[in-house]
Amino acid sequence: MKQPRSAPEKFDARTIAKSVTVFFVNYVLLFALIFLFILLNSLSEENKGFVQYLQEDLTDLVYLLVSIFILFVIIYFYFLFENRQSLQTAKSIWLIFILLDVSIVVCYFFGFFFNVYSRPVAMLALLALLLLSRRAAIFLNVIFALMMFAIDHFSNFTLTDVNANAAAATPLLTFAAGMVGIYVGSRVKTRVCSFLTGFAVCVPLLIMIACLEYGSGMQLLYAMLFGLEAGICSAVLFMALLPVFEVCFNCITDYRLRELTDHDAPLMRELKERAFGTFNHCIVVAHLAEACAIALNEDTALARAAAYYHDVGKLRQPEFFTENQSGYNPHNELSPELSVDIIRSHAKDGYELIRNRRLPKVLADVALQHHGTMPIKYFYAKALKMTDGEVNMDDFSYPGPKPQTKIAAIIMIADASEAISRSLPDRTPERVESAVREIIQERVDLEQFDECDITMRDLTAIKEAIVNCLTGVYHSRISYPKLKLGRKDAEGGKSNG
Ligand SMILES: [Fe+2]
Ligand SMILES: [Fe+2]
Repeated sequence: MKQPRSAPEKFDARTIAKSVTVFFVNYVLLFALIFLFILLNSLSEENKGFVQYLQEDLTDLVYLLVSIFILFVIIYFYFLFENRQSLQTAKSIWLIFILLDVSIVVCYFFGFFFNVYSRPVAMLALLALLLLSRRAAIFLNVIFALMMFAIDHFSNFTLTDVNANAAAATPLLTFAAGMVGIYVGSRVKTRVCSFLTGFAVCVPLLIMIACLEYGSGMQLLYAMLFGLEAGICSAVLFMALLPVFEVCFNCITDYRLRELTDHDAPLMRELKERAFGTFNHCIVVAHLAEACAIALNEDTALARAAAYYHDVGKLRQPEFFTENQSGYNPHNELSPELSVDIIRSHAKDGYELIRNRRLPKVLADVALQHHGTMPIKYFYAKALKMTDGEVNMDDFSYPGPKPQTKIAAIIMIADASEAISRSLPDRTPERVESAVREIIQERVDLEQFDECDITMRDLTAIKEAIVNCLTGVYHSRISYPKLKLGRKDAEGGKSNG
């Protein structure tokens, strides 16, 4: 499941026990499904009955049980060492194994009712690519190929001569189709284009089927047609199942992030209509955050979406925020304490709004953390002036939490940099650089980055990326001459050619 890379890891004995339990439940579930297919398959004419199968091939069933178990253990240890975050919640472990379960069921359904070559073997790789990561997709594709091989060889599924060739080549067919799916799928940017991935997947399938069935006459033609269907069905089923997984597991894929950052997404449209100043601010922050994410090799789509949604809490009372005011400032009639309460509540309101709309939690977390525990300086200074210095700074600060991930830290810096750059009287690169440096230094001094693993090198890269972007936004232009032109000038211009 897509998550900010630097989320802190809490992996204690309880988490291990929970993840191992979910692992065993899934193992039992998958084996029950395979057993069901063996039972169904024993009803077909080509195979012996179920009782006879159990009497004669009980050893095969034990081999199958053991090989699936070994592959499950390998999966568990892969995620334990390579991507521990995936084992932190039961939901993310379920996602990994449900992906495998669904893929096995779909493939054997196609194999049972159509043909062994018609199995949509690249579906798992495509789903894992979007829902987990490219690395996890490559790994699961290998495991899936081996799992299919074990099932084909130790069950009663492909014992007929017609299926023998396909069964022997199962690992190669599955692996090659899945890898092509991963390479092509990772370059595709929209859901519609992902349909074309299916045609790319057909290429290795058709080449291998042609080699396997060469010289078998009409059977080659049928096998090729089934291979074509396998590639296309891999993409179609991937497109059909992806939104189901996104909703059931509240996953954030690049597709979903792109849809969320569409200016017509419900919350974005509301922001545009009711708080246009905040909407514009979010767009500039998104440009800055994207540049920072590139500099830090973080997830750019996630940084962009987090920036778009970081201030949605301002929708509750948009007129209390400077960027939405045009002349009248309601804070002039309020005490600094009341003003601070309204201003700082936008972080919590944003968190609640995002969660209530069932949008990804990672966006809600960034909204809650983007001001950390920073003081609201304007009202703190106002209160100091009114009370002769007897004010507690904590009463004028955001309640936190501080940024927990690099993405949240990026949004914190980009947000403040955008706000300060608007107030700069001169926006020369030197002045912008000094302002951004001060923003970062102030947050380092106030220990805002203590709870995320951002380094000084990262902060320097963030500063450079923001300065480059801001100087691009506010680049100097030649000043226009103060001439007032009218109809007479136009007529004169025409006569003069
Ligand atoms: Fe904010
Ligand atoms: Fe902001």
